[in-house]
Amino acid sequence: MTGTDDRMTEAHMETRTLGDGTPVGAIALGAMAFAGFYAGGDDEEGVRAIHRALDLGVTLLDTAEAYGQGRSEGLVGRAVRDRRDRAVIATKASRGGPAYLREAIDRSLGHLGLDHVDLYYLHRVDPEVPIEETMGAMADLVAAGKVRAVGLSEAGPDTIRRAHAVHPVAALQTEYSLFHRDPERDLLPVTRELGIAYVAYSPLSRGLLTGRIRGEDDLDAGDWRRQVPRFQGANLAHNVALLAPLEEMARAKGVSTATLALASFRWWAWAVRRAWTGRSRRPT
Ligand SMILES: NC(=O)c1ccc[n+]([C@@H]2O[C@H](COP(=O)([O-])OP(=O)(O)OC[C@H]3O[C@@H](n4cnc5c(N)ncnc54)[C@H](OP(=O)(O)O)[C@@H]3O)[C@@H](O)[C@H]2O)c1
Repeated sequence: MTGTDDRMTEAHMETRTLGDGTPVGAIALGAMAFAGFYAGGDDEEGVRAIHRALDLGVTLLDTAEAYGQGRSEGLVGRAVRDRRDRAVIATKASRGGPAYLREAIDRSLGHLGLDHVDLYYLHRVDPEVPIEETMGAMADLVAAGKVRAVGLSEAGPDTIRRAHAVHPVAALQTEYSLFHRDPERDLLPVTRELGIAYVAYSPLSRGLLTGRIRGEDDLDAGDWRRQVPRFQGANLAHNVALLAPLEEMARAKGVSTATLALASFRWWAWAVRRAWTGRSRRPT
């Protein structure tokens, strides 16, 4: 992710700051797949993975009510119960509007077993509700102490500016990977200008960049990704063909395609940050 500051945690993880000044590990952990969003899901493994990630210096844990209707929030809450002070908890409201948000935050806090969340995102911009109205309601949740900072997910530049004018946006979360570099065009510039942290989701393009998904049959019958165009028919064949040079480099280096994809992406993001800011700690 990009933020305004580079430091190292005790576990030697680089840190970034959210727009409200909260320091977080530069690598976050998403708890979507643990709740079976793609296929299967395993709560116990999810809790163990969260504990391991916290030990390695990850602090930002990302969940949403939509991930298994509270199942993901439930396992995140269970995982941090005895280590709340080490985690920065982000969750998301599925829709906008004051009435919906008032109820959604209480449901999320109930699933998490917490009295507040550190970052509350609007998961998708609600076309039925002006963003100003939604941000006003988010500001009320901050004033009520239920939410520390507000984020947006999948918002465009104009919406980000309008939202930020009502209440500071601490983080923007959208998809960003070697396969999906659109944010560089118009989102990273606006987050940088407004001092908003940028959180990249699906850095392996929902698993495509692991090289393990070569045909639709590599996905379980219930896997949600079967509905996603990049995993279908000719699109998938085209995307798998694009992986060939990465796979060849990974073989030559004796690492997995996923490892090389993530490492290359970190270096790429570093280069982008450095080009813009003139300073950025080299990835380790
Ligand atoms: N705001 C939004 O709208 C939004 C949308 C999507 C995601 N997100 C957030 O972003 C997080 C990450 O998204 P994502 O799960 O799509 O990320 P991703 O890393 O692009 O894809 C995850 C997939 O890659 C596989 N994988 C991950 N690391 C691997 C490795 N080292 N070697 C082999 N396979 C590996 C996983 O396999 P296994 O299942 O076997 O581990 C899983 O199938 C989510 O948990 C969620 O918090 C947010």
